[in-house]
Amino acid sequence: MLLLIFLTKMRPFALTFLTLLVSMWWSLSDCYDPLDPNGNITVTIDILQRTLDGYTARVTIQNYYQYRHVDKPGWKIGWTWTKDEVIVSMSGAFATQQGNCSSLNFQDAHCCKKDPEIADLPTDVSPEKTTVGCCKGGIISAYAINPAKSFSSFEFTVANLGENTTYFAPQNLTIMAPGPGYTCESLQDSDPTVFPDIGGRRHVQVFRTWKSICTYSTFVANKAPACCVSLSTFYNPTITSCPLCSCGCRPTDQNATSCIRESYNLPQADFVSSLDLVKCTDHMCPVRVHWHVKNNYVDRWRIKLTVSNYNYKKNYSDWNVLVKHPGFSQKSTAYSFNGTVLPAVGFAEEVALFWGVSYFNEELLQADEDQEGSVTTDILLEKDLESFTFRNGWGFPRKIYFNGEDCEMPLPDTFPMLPNSSSTLKPTSNCFWLLLLLTFLTVETLITTFGSDDQ
Ligand SMILES: *[C@@H]1O[C@H](CO)[C@@H](O)[C@H](O)[C@H]1NC(C)=O
Ligand SMILES: *[C@@H]1O[C@H](CO)[C@@H](O)[C@H](O)[C@H]1NC(C)=O
Ligand SMILES: *[C@@H]1O[C@H](CO)[C@@H](O)[C@H](O)[C@H]1NC(C)=O
Ligand SMILES: *[C@@H]1O[C@H](CO)[C@@H](O)[C@H](O)[C@H]1NC(C)=O
Ligand SMILES: *[C@@H]1O[C@H](CO)[C@@H](O)[C@H](O)[C@H]1NC(C)=O
Ligand SMILES: *[C@@H]1O[C@H](CO)[C@@H](O)[C@H](O)[C@H]1NC(C)=O
Ligand SMILES: *[C@@H]1O[C@H](CO)[C@@H](O)[C@H](O)[C@H]1NC(C)=O
Ligand SMILES: *[C@@H]1O[C@H](CO)[C@@H](O)[C@H](O)[C@H]1NC(C)=O
Repeated sequence: MLLLIFLTKMRPFALTFLTLLVSMWWSLSDCYDPLDPNGNITVTIDILQRTLDGYTARVTIQNYYQYRHVDKPGWKIGWTWTKDEVIVSMSGAFATQQGNCSSLNFQDAHCCKKDPEIADLPTDVSPEKTTVGCCKGGIISAYAINPAKSFSSFEFTVANLGENTTYFAPQNLTIMAPGPGYTCESLQDSDPTVFPDIGGRRHVQVFRTWKSICTYSTFVANKAPACCVSLSTFYNPTITSCPLCSCGCRPTDQNATSCIRESYNLPQADFVSSLDLVKCTDHMCPVRVHWHVKNNYVDRWRIKLTVSNYNYKKNYSDWNVLVKHPGFSQKSTAYSFNGTVLPAVGFAEEVALFWGVSYFNEELLQADEDQEGSVTTDILLEKDLESFTFRNGWGFPRKIYFNGEDCEMPLPDTFPMLPNSSSTLKPTSNCFWLLLLLTFLTVETLITTFGSDDQ
């Protein structure tokens, strides 16, 4: 850590080395995202009520990941019962298989399987089947983007436990959100959840609470890279494209326009939705983020950020883009994206998170024959005149994530270079002249005013 801070201070000399070091460190720390160290999905089972031979419980799936959401087709949760539990009824979700409910007592039971798998109901379900926080088609927002929609919950009643009220937590909790990649601890007893009642004037406590923390790892997900970064600037006509073969290599048939790629490197191709149909490119990534350094003003600079979708059959709803760049320590304005700067997590460089504006560009549409789907914005940043420079690739992002997945960055030695003569880098003076004109006019007005006062 100290070494990193030291290197950051020596930035002009060490950028290349730093980038290498950081990227090496990153690939080593697969199951831990240093930009979101506390991220997790917490699964809580609250036993609300005892029944004659079982209990009623509520399950809450809370997403604490800052910029990792649960996308279509939504989450699926599963576990293995410890005793002979039978789910007699469920609201706000459904078990995907009923199993063998032929025993006389449980002919109408919802699910008699030892290892039920449960999915969320769609949004258009009839109201009597719903509970609070349910029925969003399994979609859960990222915590930093929409905390109010960052959870999902459902209720069920189990029976067949006899009169013994020593309940046992289910085992081997699994969650697909929606693909693989999450590992859950075993459910542990924890402090009973307390709910406000009577408008917050009374607090009621559940009978018993079990909790499990589930964490994501790209290693467990075994996910192929899905995103890459390209760069350009106003001061150099060179465009640095995505690294060759970032997400796979283009097939030898150069004429092919649509390519099939596997988004998960699963040995068995049973995960059908893991096949993507994408436009054939030299990077083969389904998503590309382009960073263009657009303008240089006296005390501000402007970036154009474009996210392109190369999928032919996939729209990204509620997409997000995370950018790590020291420039975000200053005030910034994104014109066509919604955004926030995430709280610093011990790094010198700031992290900004962007997502779509409601009813405008919150969906990143699929490509068609003519062009990719895309969303784009200008971002105006104030300068910290002490650290601001275009040298050594300072103006380029250190890291970009799309939907929580790390994007492949070009190597620093391929970054667009500063030209030798610095004349092109003089800040655009429009603002300056405008300011001068304004000052002149103001002074003139004042003089005129004072002049008339004198008379
Ligand atoms: C899970 O996330 C919550 C909220 O960020 C945090 O308070 C908690 O410590 C996290 N748990 C673990 C084990 O990381
Ligand atoms: C279903 O369960 C009943 C009673 O528990 C049992 O008799 C029957 O053999 C089971 N059927 C199958 C196909 O497992
Ligand atoms: C309930 O079951 C547990 C474990 O099976 C046992 O130790 C306990 O004595 C039982 N309690 C009653 C009231 O039967
Ligand atoms: C839970 O998973 C472990 C490892 O896969 C397995 O050995 C164990 O039998 C499972 N427990 C239950 C109750 O299925
Ligand atoms: C690619 O297309 C060109 C012209 O459209 C054609 O001449 C060439 O044979 C094609 N190559 C392959 C490998 O199909
Ligand atoms: C993506 O969105 C477009 C426009 O809303 C729609 O026509 C298309 O069917 C969608 N594609 C998928 C795979 O849902
Ligand atoms: C920006 O995001 C916040 C949080 O999700 C939301 O409340 C707000 O309405 C969004 N603004 C726009 C213009 O979409
Ligand atoms: C910049 O300077 C280097 C050596 O000083 C030279 O090799 C290079 O051609 C110059 N580039 C431009 C664009 O003038």
